Amino acid sequence: MPFRNDSLNWGVTAKTFHWSIATLVFVEFALGWLAVVWPLTPTKLYLFIWHKSLGMVVLLLVVMRLIWRLFNPRPLFPVSVARWERVTAETVHGLFYAVLILLPFSGWLLNSATGVPFKIFGWFKLPELVAPSRPLMGIMIDAHILLGWALISLLAIHILAALRHHWFRQDVTLKRMLPFVRIRESNLHV
Ligand code: HEM
Ligand code: HEM
Repeated sequence: MPFRNDSLNWGVTAKTFHWSIATLVFVEFALGWLAVVWPLTPTKLYLFIWHKSLGMVVLLLVVMRLIWRLFNPRPLFPVSVARWERVTAETVHGLFYAVLILLPFSGWLLNSATGVPFKIFGWFKLPELVAPSRPLMGIMIDAHILLGWALISLLAIHILAALRHHWFRQDVTLKRMLPFVRIRESNLHV
């Protein structure tokens, strides 16, 4: 199985990272919002345990994905993709990585600032980054929500761009990110 990217295709590793992180991010939004609005019952606690635990998994996966990307450059863009589109794509992807690290990290800081000890999946204690602090708690709640909206905005651009490539430009951009799809076209930038 081709684990690495080549000039034409995303490898299995990059695709697995992409779709597992994307799925977890959607689950994380649902869990985060549910946990906040849920009435004060044991379920609320479980929603928070899952939200925080899976959020830390996202952080770990994103760091692993970035390290992998460092040694394994992305495939080339199709020739039909203009320079400004490449720059926009690379910018949105860069911002994605930044937000995908800062968002869980703000959650981690928030958890530390509350001073409530937390065990990931109930297994092991999440190390405290800072001493308990009310002002920091407020700042981190705002940061967490703001970063959440930033992620949603990036996602809107990202999904619209992917669909535009597929339906209007009819190039390989979306197709070759899908699982089990490999393309053989050679009409790519060098
Ligand atoms: C990709 C990862 C994450 C996403 C997308 C995410 C998203 C969200 C969202 C949408 C909310 C609801 C905000 C609101 O309506 O007030 C929330 C709340 C919260 N999240 Fe996360 N989160 C992530 C990771 C984490 C992590 C890793 C932690 C802690 C270790 C964490 C801790 C919290 C806490 C404590 C709240 C409640 C904040 C409040 O009281 O308003 N989150 N998160
Ligand atoms: C939370 C959800 C998502 C996140 C965080 C995300 C993030 C990313 C990132 C960071 C890249 C760049 C990969 C790299 O260069 O290392 C990428 C590529 C890509 N994503 Fe997503 N993505 C998400 C959901 C989606 C969805 C729902 C679609 C399809 C509609 C999609 C389609 C694509 C495609 C086609 C590429 C390749 C773009 C190219 O060749 O320039 N993504 N994604």
